[in-house]
Amino acid sequence: MNETLALQFTHRSDRSFSTAPISDDLLESIIEAAWHAPSSMNAQHVSLVVVRDAAKRARIAELAGGQPWIAEAPVFITVIVDFNKTSVGLQNVGATQHIHESVDGFAAGAVDAGIALGNLMLAARSLGLGVVAIGGLRRNPQEMIDLLELPALTYPIVGVTIGHIATPAQPKPRLPLASFRHDERYHAEAIAPAIATYDKVLPEYWHSIGRADGLPWSANLAKPYSQGFYRATKPVAAKQGFVQEQ
Ligand SMILES: Cc1cc2nc3c(=O)[nH]c(=O)nc-3n(C[C@H](O)[C@H](O)[C@H](O)COP(=O)(O)O)c2cc1C
Repeated sequence: MNETLALQFTHRSDRSFSTAPISDDLLESIIEAAWHAPSSMNAQHVSLVVVRDAAKRARIAELAGGQPWIAEAPVFITVIVDFNKTSVGLQNVGATQHIHESVDGFAAGAVDAGIALGNLMLAARSLGLGVVAIGGLRRNPQEMIDLLELPALTYPIVGVTIGHIATPAQPKPRLPLASFRHDERYHAEAIAPAIATYDKVLPEYWHSIGRADGLPWSANLAKPYSQGFYRATKPVAAKQGFVQEQ
């Protein structure tokens, strides 16, 4: 196994960080790893807002629903779906951008943002740092937009906390591979048995790390996925100019 695969196979989200700073050199390498990411149409509709200021990180921790690791770790990067840049490009040639008004445009931006997030996380881990992605910032997107002074046609889709690990997390088991890898066609018959297995495995994992409140996978998803998740996404994305199509 090579070093890249070893890092990917040992992925884990860390949530216990020291407050030790991250050097400018390390941070630049992490950001450049994301900057080199591929993008749909080479449109490069992603920007990063790098927050090191402690008061701002404390505010983001609050906006994300009370996630103390955001305030503890020295760096928080918000990954922005950014159709502002492409809009300026179109204006340069006298054209008007409409792609951002479609669900397809928002999907393209979200995919690009996800690739950038993956690069940020892998680069940070390759440098011995810990990471955790933060989708919780979509709980209060307007406040994030105000805090980061984001213009129209931009949206804070996800973030990542980066820091020096205090207590390392334990890698979390996944749904069985048979429910993930489908050869030649989707194998729907593989899903129920895989979930039944995982609903037993995940509580054992929670138990092994001393979490008495850990639920099976199905039960854990029941509340957020039956009630809808971050309800502000649609109206705030629309206010930023996205997803206008009926
Ligand atoms: C897009 C995305 C958003 C996430 N949002 C949060 C979050 O807001 N807070 C958090 O603590 N973890 C968050 N996570 C981490 C997931 O909970 C974690 O990846 C999952 O439980 C699997 O655990 P592992 O990463 O340790 O393997 C997020 C992960 C992703 C990919």
